[in-house]
Amino acid sequence: MIVCSCNIISGKEIADAVRDLLASDPWRLIVPVQVYRAMAKRGKCCSCFPNVIGIIQETTEAVHREMATPEAEILTFITRIRQEHERCETARMLARRRVAAIRAA
Ligand code: FES
Repeated sequence: MIVCSCNIISGKEIADAVRDLLASDPWRLIVPVQVYRAMAKRGKCCSCFPNVIGIIQETTEAVHREMATPEAEILTFITRIRQEHERCETARMLARRRVAAIRAA
């Protein structure tokens, strides 16, 4: 299924890029920009980023289950990833509103 219509990127391509990034460090925090950079793409409208974040979280959780990471560590790590993604998305939305307000003025 296509997740990013601007770049025509499927969910599987995103998940594969996340797995490649996690191969070098399974405990790293991955954000959408890193995934797009790994695929030699750029976010254009960035409306796909919430879905990309969901794929990052699901893939990270799946990788850790495959590694037999203890359940408590998986839950702690996924919670931390969700909190960090929420913080980043909030900052991105606030920045967009500021730009829109400047353009409207
Ligand atoms: S839908 Fe992904 S950048 Fe626009």
